[in-house]
Amino acid sequence: MQEEIQILDKKAALYMPAAEIEETVRNIADALKLQLEGKDIVFLVVLNGAYVFAADLLREIDMDCKVSFVKLASYSGEKSTGKVKQILGINEDLAGKTVIIVEDIIDTGNTLAHLVDEVKDKHPKEIMIVGFLFKKSVYDKDLAIDYTGKIIPDKFVIGYGMDYNGYGRNLKNIYQVVH
Ligand code: IMP
Ligand code: MG
Repeated sequence: MQEEIQILDKKAALYMPAAEIEETVRNIADALKLQLEGKDIVFLVVLNGAYVFAADLLREIDMDCKVSFVKLASYSGEKSTGKVKQILGINEDLAGKTVIIVEDIIDTGNTLAHLVDEVKDKHPKEIMIVGFLFKKSVYDKDLAIDYTGKIIPDKFVIGYGMDYNGYGRNLKNIYQVVH
């Protein structure tokens, strides 16, 4: 396993190996399944970053469900721009459904707050939020994060769907930028 990687101008060190990721995903799935019994479920996956986590998580959920995608972007390089751009909208009927938003990482929560407002306009029965990683110290919203795999410090991470300027999404492990 590579302990250190270089992506564009950044060096990053191994932070969460694939085996730990796998176990974490299974734990989230087990907890989530207990809450979903008998519900009319739509998973709403936030592209691009959440595609890897969602693929793993949803294959651990052996229940009838729909899966839909929304594409939002708020980041440029290592910084959240604060402005959330919607690139692909919600084209699924969410009325009366249990909507589970699936995010790779929740940082300031800007992306999430924006999305939750939009989901609410479609009159779901309830909304749950799952973020594989959670930078809790910088999160400044009131919305509860229902499920998270790991609370991490405010340092940039790459891999397992998460990118630095478009690169690194295909890495199996998660790396943390050193400099
Ligand atoms: P927020 O709107 O500040 O919560 O940012 C959330 C989005 O920014 C996530 O869905 C990611 O796409 C991206 N993001 C935030 N932190 C990181 C990081 O450390 N690495 C890669 N992407 C990140
Ligand atoms: Mg994202």
